[in-house]
Formats: sequence, C-alpha cells, structure tokens
Amino acid sequence: MNYLIGLDIGTTSTKCILMDSSGKLTASAVKQYPLDIPKPGWAQQNPEHWWEATIWTIKEVLKKSKKDSQDVCAIGLSGQMHGSVFLDKYGKVIRPAIIWCDQRTAEQCRTIYDIFGGEKKFISIAYNKALAGFTAPKILWLRKMEPENYRKMEKILLPKDYIRYRLSGTYATETSDASGTILMDIKERKWSKEILSGLSIKEDLLPKIFESHQISSYISGEAAGLTGLLKGTPIVGGAGDQAGGAIGSGIVYEGKVSDYLGTSGAIFAHLDSPVYDRKGRVHCFCHAIPDAWHIMAVTLSAAGSYRWYFDTFGLSGKESLEDKKLSGYELLNKEAEKAPAGSEGLIFLPYLSGERTPHADPNARGVFFGLSYIHNRTHFARSVMEGVSYSQYDCLNLMKDLGITSDKIVLFGGGARSALWRRITSDIFNTKIVTLNVEEGPAYGAAILAGVGAGVYKNVREATDRIIKEVSEISPEPENVKKYAGHYKIYRSLYGSLKNEFEKLAGT
Ligand code: XUL
Repeated sequence: MNYLIGLDIGTTSTKCILMDSSGKLTASAVKQYPLDIPKPGWAQQNPEHWWEATIWTIKEVLKKSKKDSQDVCAIGLSGQMHGSVFLDKYGKVIRPAIIWCDQRTAEQCRTIYDIFGGEKKFISIAYNKALAGFTAPKILWLRKMEPENYRKMEKILLPKDYIRYRLSGTYATETSDASGTILMDIKERKWSKEILSGLSIKEDLLPKIFESHQISSYISGEAAGLTGLLKGTPIVGGAGDQAGGAIGSGIVYEGKVSDYLGTSGAIFAHLDSPVYDRKGRVHCFCHAIPDAWHIMAVTLSAAGSYRWYFDTFGLSGKESLEDKKLSGYELLNKEAEKAPAGSEGLIFLPYLSGERTPHADPNARGVFFGLSYIHNRTHFARSVMEGVSYSQYDCLNLMKDLGITSDKIVLFGGGARSALWRRITSDIFNTKIVTLNVEEGPAYGAAILAGVGAGVYKNVREATDRIIKEVSEISPEPENVKKYAGHYKIYRSLYGSLKNEFEKLAGT
C-alpha cells in the first residue's frame, strides 16, 4: 500500500496526516505554537516553531501508524498564505515572519498604487488589490522600516515553502501560494516581470514556481535524520491553505463553492479561467490544479473570533463541571445553543485584526452591538458565530455579483464541526449546506497533491471524485432566515457608521 503525508503549517498549529491511497486517514498529529501580537494589527511568528512542530508531527504520525518510512511515497505541503520569511545568504531567518493577518503595511499598499498609476491600473495588472496582509507590501515595509535587514535579505519564502527548504534544502514554491504575494502574472502562472520591475524587487529573491502536483524537491539526509522519513522522499509543490483545503474538499469543478471556517474564513469558487473583479473586491488566484484558477473572499477572523472569545472569556465554572466528557469548545457550543437565532439583537462585527473582504480596512475593529440587560453568556457565544457568518455572507454576495452561484455550499474547517454553526450558516446564507466524509482540509488536499505527484492518482479530479463524498445536507429554516435577513441589514450598515471612528481610534 502507498502512503501519503500531508502537512499544514497553520496559524495556530501544524497538522500532519498520513493517509493511504484510498484516502483513508491512518494517523494524524497536531502541535500548537504561539502567535506574537507586538501591537494592535501586527502579527508575527517564529518560523523555528513551525519547523519544530513539523519534525514532531511527522515523527508522531509515523509512530502512531506504525508505518515504515519506506511506505511513504510522497509529501505535500500546505499552509497559511501571504507570510514573509526573510532569509540571509546562509538561509538563516533574519527577523520574525510577518504573517497574513498583519496589517502594518497600509502605507506600502498606497505606494504600490502610486507606482503603477492608481488602484484600478494595479488591479488590471495583478488581478488583485494590494492588501495589507499580502506579501509584496511586506517586502516594501522591510525595505523602508528595517533597511539593514533588507540589505541582508537574499531570499523571501512563504511559510510552507520555508518548511520545504528545511526539509530539502531547496528554495521552491507553487502557483496557488505564490499568487498571494501579488507578484505574479496570474494568467501566465509565473512571476510578473512588470510588477517586479515596478517594485524594484529582483526575481532571484524569489523561489522557483512549480505546479502544485509537481515534485519540487526531496527529503535531505539531515531532515531524514530529524524526522524519520527516508532520504530522497519526494516533496510536491503543495498549495496555500485555501487552495489546499479546496482540493481536500473537492472544490475542483466550476459551479462548486465552499465556505471554510478556519482561523480565517473563506468563500472559495473554482474557475476554469481567470475571472477577476475590476474593483478587486475578491481575490483571483491560481488554483492548485494546472489550468485552473479560483476566486476567493476572506474574513480575517472567522473561527479565530470564536477562539479569541473562548480564550478570553472561556466557560462559566458551572458549565465546565457539568459534563467533563465534552471539550471546552463543545461546552461553549452548548452554551451558544441556548440563545435564540439572532441572539436577541446582539450583533458581533468580527473585525478583530482589521478586515479583508468586503471592507479592505486595516483599521476596522471588533464590535458587540445592541447590548442590553437581557444578554448573557449564551448570547455572546452565539452572536460571535452569527457575526462571522454575516461576514461570510458579505463575501458570498460579492461572488453572486460576479455571476458565481451554487445551489449548495460545502462547509468545512474547525467551525463546521459545530452543528449550530452549520445551522446558522444555512439560515444566514439561505442556502443548503453540505458536509463531507473528510475533515482534514488543507492537509488532506496536500496529501492528494502528493499522490498525484507520486503517480498514485492520475490527476486531482480522479482522486477527489473517488475519495470525497457528501455526508450531510441541511436546508435553511424559513423563520430563522427571516430573522437573520433583518439583522443582516443592520450588520451591513454598522461598518459604514463606524468606519471613521475606526480610523480615529487607530490614530490614538
Ligand atoms: C488567505 C488567507 C488566510 C491565511 C491563513 O488569503 O489570508 O486564509 O492563508 O489561513
């Protein structure tokens, strides 16, 4: 039997899975690490933590599955997108990686538009806006704010590509993640000479781009010693976490749309040709399949908002004593279930680290609106889920504007495990919600890509058609749909009312 490894270098943890060629999960392991928020709107991580977690989780899946390293025929990498790992000439990390939800580069985004003759012109070249979380403005930030570090820098890698470098000694990336740098010619699937020369970034600072299923490198002797993998095991290109999650959820045909409720949340649609929004409201990136693209709209703090709520306010002591068999999140979900649809008028805006879609605004901040004496812990927990789903509904509506529709949405990611959140999503979207037989998202997609690269599958669609099945479907409840439609209108108006105040607050 052939076994495949999928790794997902996430924001809160690294996950490693081992699966067989039928798609059956043999073992998985997760290792968490910290996120450094040095000031509001900033977000950094130490790439060494990703590497330590990679070694530990690979060893763990090999141990748990009792498989020999010889059984592993290929490895696929996936991970948080847009982050910047700056390396010196010795391949050493120069400073903490600035990650996708960091918002420090608003000024550099304006600079990019100025260089290219305005926002519209830049969008027509890059098929995307210059947004604060993306990689290109981070490079400009380093050049302006830390010139000494910039001078030392000889390579810029995305998070999962840094792990590839540690595993193999090779600098490489692939089309889906490279798209999120906004340094690419999205149509041609290669670095854009026009963008690089406009920004005065030398192409040799960037790694070579592969297609996601192609073998990019091989496990080095050193990494073999550390992980227990066999030296020479192939590593395929892999995918950014959103494209990887889409592969792992079968979003590989036009007409298929998903909603990912991870730390961030994304509405994702497969495209057979690049269709970009002239206003740049949604992202148009290469999909992790040759000759395919995708459109995506992102809520920065999705399940991340729920995690923040859980970490900050936790559970009431009474609830946690009630049922020791449930996890903390399951107990919190139970608490949330006790509040009615609409949380009796408590509305949450999930802009904890600014927002990307539909309000590309680094200054936006989280809000609980409509608070009264009636509200208790149950309303707060439920309103966080509802606020995130309103934001995702904003994203879905932008897709509809571009003519992308689907009669059902595939929901996956940590948030999709909650029956309540599935119900809320269906009622707010007024759409059928389906879930799948596989729940591993990006790591699973990465393992499928590894299988294609190793020749275990003919191509991605052959694998996903065979492996991925819908296992549940729920339809919207008309009464809740009506309630949410009213609240959504209020939710929509709140950002407009608060925009200037967010800006003032940022200046304090
Ligand atoms: C996608 C995005 C996030 C990160 C972290 O554009 O910014 O999904 O990849 O998950």
